[in-house]
Amino acid sequence: MKNKSLISINDYSKEQQIHVLDIAEDFEKNPRQRLLENYVVATLFFEPSTRTRLSFESAASYLGGKIIGFSDTSSTSVQKGESLRDTIKTVANYSDVIVMRHPKEGSARFASEVSSVPIINAGDGANQHPTQCLLDLYSIRKTQGTLDGLNVAFIGDLKYGRTVHSLVQALCQFNTTFHLVSPTELKLPSSVKIHIKERKLEYFQYTELEEVIPKVDILYMTRIQKERFSDPIEYEKIKNSYILKNDMLNKTKNNLRIMHPLPRVNEIDEDVDDNKRAYYFQQALNGVFVRQALLTSILGLK
Ligand code: CP
Repeated sequence: MKNKSLISINDYSKEQQIHVLDIAEDFEKNPRQRLLENYVVATLFFEPSTRTRLSFESAASYLGGKIIGFSDTSSTSVQKGESLRDTIKTVANYSDVIVMRHPKEGSARFASEVSSVPIINAGDGANQHPTQCLLDLYSIRKTQGTLDGLNVAFIGDLKYGRTVHSLVQALCQFNTTFHLVSPTELKLPSSVKIHIKERKLEYFQYTELEEVIPKVDILYMTRIQKERFSDPIEYEKIKNSYILKNDMLNKTKNNLRIMHPLPRVNEIDEDVDDNKRAYYFQQALNGVFVRQALLTSILGLK
């Protein structure tokens, strides 16, 4: 994995993904190791973020690394018309690894082709979010004791949800049964479904949330993403399709955990937060350890 960019979750083999999770377990026990003292991590966020950028910066800071970058482009030369190619080639001169989020699908792959340092894709449009995927795998393994043979439900925006696309592909390696709950307009794209079919795994599609709740080990809630809709009227029609409330959780498996990549808008009521099955804030914390594992693996330090 040394010097290897991470653009799609499929860029890493199953063994490499498990290796990252194993290293992350060590970092969870001891996150303050000064392994990055001589390294510079660049975080280039062309699109808003709270968790991904700050958990990368937290991960690098706990390891003693230096961070450069931007959280929006308003104060950068992108405003003067500088191309993505030139921005990446320049920042690669100033850093050892670049973490990048961009609204355009394929932009991270393009960046990896012009960069002299590894690129970590922190989300490219509706395409992929591989570091979220690794922290999701970590969270599932930690709460279920295994990744194998689970029933996992994905709820909400399965069409544009890049976290869903990455995680479905990764879970195909682990004999998962998929329960896909979405409005008809936001079904999982066939380009992602094909991975399930190729593995000959079972998947079931629903438009109602209630019927999947008693069947599954993981409920992976997602936000209907306003920013991906070209027609605001379409968004208004389906924005409140699914709202998980505490009183819907009376008949669940004991091991059920509720995950969400966050941010949430109103798809999980705040009254769920105190339910022992709610795991989304712990999930966000796990992102620090997983990103420490990724940075040190890519820099050849672990
Ligand atoms: N999960 C996630 O990507 O959150 P942010 O958009 O806040 O980074």
